[in-house]
Amino acid sequence: MAADAIMAGGQKNSRCSSDAVGPLVMAVTPPILRVCGVTVRFGGIVALDAVDFDVPAASVFGMIGPNGAGKTTMFNCISRLYAYQSGDIIFEGASITATPTHRIAGLGLGRTFQNLAMFKTMSVRQNVMVGGHTRSRAGFLASALRLAGVAAEERRLRERADDVLDFLELGTVADRPVGDLPFATQKRVELARALACEPRLLMLDEPAAGLNHEELGALARLIRDIRDRLGVTVLLVEHHMGLVMDVSDRIVVLNFGRKIAEGAPQEIQRNATVIQAYLGTPARARAA
Ligand SMILES: Nc1ncnc2c1ncn2[C@@H]1O[C@H](COP(=O)(O)OP(=O)(O)OP(=O)(O)O)[C@@H](O)[C@H]1O
Ligand SMILES: [Mg+2]
Repeated sequence: MAADAIMAGGQKNSRCSSDAVGPLVMAVTPPILRVCGVTVRFGGIVALDAVDFDVPAASVFGMIGPNGAGKTTMFNCISRLYAYQSGDIIFEGASITATPTHRIAGLGLGRTFQNLAMFKTMSVRQNVMVGGHTRSRAGFLASALRLAGVAAEERRLRERADDVLDFLELGTVADRPVGDLPFATQKRVELARALACEPRLLMLDEPAAGLNHEELGALARLIRDIRDRLGVTVLLVEHHMGLVMDVSDRIVVLNFGRKIAEGAPQEIQRNATVIQAYLGTPARARAA
């Protein structure tokens, strides 16, 4: 990360400035997330180049692009793990550019990681309860001293964890150490932990990687259930095109840090620039 990163929230020229939102746009439900002109440089590499997109609430929004396109970097910006040199990110109408990363989950932004990140020797339930702690009302000192109210808080976290485990059909493995479970189940536990934060926007970074055909079908159903039954918006980064096209309401495509397309799955599938980015040759040249 560049040391001289400038937090430039709410820039005047950003697509997010108030004069960019006309009366017609205001009449419909505002997007849950607005990414406005976000630029990230690592030394000479421009990982994100003035990227703009809006994520509609209660949708599945796919983000695709070849390796190195900037997808995980974008997740890291939204999680505030990375600083951006310019641009702004607006969650539920308020800029999060100046929000420290430890406050992000508490705001209602949950995520999973491209590489599994869990406590392997702890049980499934304990891992999921760690997620719920971001919403815990008991402070660190009160918890350490086991003050009154902490036991009730622990009970609440446990109940919340068990609800999420039931939703994800993980109840039968709740007491098993995560490290003993098959890979696909471990990925589901990571998702459970993210859901235990009670997010309103859930970011999934390559949830299908390493899954077999049957597990992919279950994941597609689960992503739809998260949107339809929990009302949680899903921002999905994925290389598995079948899954992205199947579950996404809308898709943004990045290539070398730039947004090259955005639209409904059917539009993206036949977009010549997208096909060229993935295959490395112009669509017309391949057809010839
Ligand atoms: N912390 C970092 N330091 C330096 N360069 C980085 C860092 N993180 C990402 N990059 C670079 O930024 C570019 C975008 O990387 P990123 O991981 O966001 O791509 P991606 O779209 O997630 O790719 P993949 O599909 O392979 O996961 C790459 O050139 C990568 O090497
Ligand atoms: Mg990535």
